[in-house]
Amino acid sequence: MKYNVILGTGSSAPENVVTNHDLEKIMDTSDEWIVQRTGIKSRHIARPGEKFSDFAVASARTALERAGIAASDLDLIIAGTMTADYIMPSGACSVQAILGADKATGMDVCAACSGFIYGLSIADKYLKCDPDLHILVIGGEIVSHHLDWDDRTTAVLFGDGVGAAVVGARSEGHRLLAVETGSNGNLGSLLYIQGGGSATPITKDFDIKDTYIQMKGREIFKHAIKNMVDISNRALKNAGVSLDQVTKIIPHQANIRIIEMLAHQFKKPMSEVFVNIDRYGNTSAGTIPIAFNEAVEAEFLQPGDIVLMTVFGGGLTWAAAVIEW
Ligand code: UT7
Repeated sequence: MKYNVILGTGSSAPENVVTNHDLEKIMDTSDEWIVQRTGIKSRHIARPGEKFSDFAVASARTALERAGIAASDLDLIIAGTMTADYIMPSGACSVQAILGADKATGMDVCAACSGFIYGLSIADKYLKCDPDLHILVIGGEIVSHHLDWDDRTTAVLFGDGVGAAVVGARSEGHRLLAVETGSNGNLGSLLYIQGGGSATPITKDFDIKDTYIQMKGREIFKHAIKNMVDISNRALKNAGVSLDQVTKIIPHQANIRIIEMLAHQFKKPMSEVFVNIDRYGNTSAGTIPIAFNEAVEAEFLQPGDIVLMTVFGGGLTWAAAVIEW
């Protein structure tokens, strides 16, 4: 009997680190406010010329090496991102070309922060149709290009970075027990980028401010908790696992207060919850795979752990995955 398993993980972020104290110098904010309201102390911000594929390829190479899979053996590359190198071709196709993953199919998933777990969901279903496939799932962003550095309500929150996992079917390994996704397009205006699409195309009168992220933070906060709890419960039910059996949580890293509220709702101590928001901020589709990879590298995940991942983002979208480590 073969199961869908995680074969390897990797992550990568720009070298350039911007601290809250650096931000204090360019906008009306303070380290104290940012730490207290969000838990963020610093974030990685791409330098000019650095692009999505640089970090996607680096994280993919690590994940492939740990999986013992050659790029030429990949059948599918799924990139959860809204900040690929180009509008066209897709980020997955850019990665395919650099890796030389010649037999793979490449596609992007546009689900904002939920992109990586959406990608896992697609990989899970492909593998249920054909267990011989090897799939690279990437999630992450160069989101800093969409930040208004004059807007303290969004600029301090986000950072750049990408993570990846290789998924395949094996008789043993880190088993993917369930992946669930959801969305509500009616609430799209709570978190959006107005310009660059067909509604507000780039014309000669285009206002650069239309490429910046707009967010109604307080409302998003409420929806984030409710939907991450609901989708987690659905994923646990489908995995045949009770909340009591969950031993580790890897949550979306958008705000430490959201993470703490989630832990409280799940009646779990923070010692069982992986947190790296202090060093990364919100990397959108990057939060889950970067945290996942760091949790693996730090041996925070131990054999036998039941791991719950859950995420929330623009769309609105949300998702959860349950893995037996
Ligand atoms: O990844 C997608 C999902 N995203 C999320 O889940 C984010 C969810 N939302 C949040 O995390 C929080 O709502 C924020 C961190 C975005 C904002 O925290 P908040 O506690 O909801 O603050 P607020 O927006 O209500 O603002 C409170 C005050 C305001 O001042 P006044 O009007 O009370 O005088 C803001 O102007 O804090 C002010 N403020 C700041 N002050 C210093 C907002 N941003 C800053 C800042 N520095 N960077």
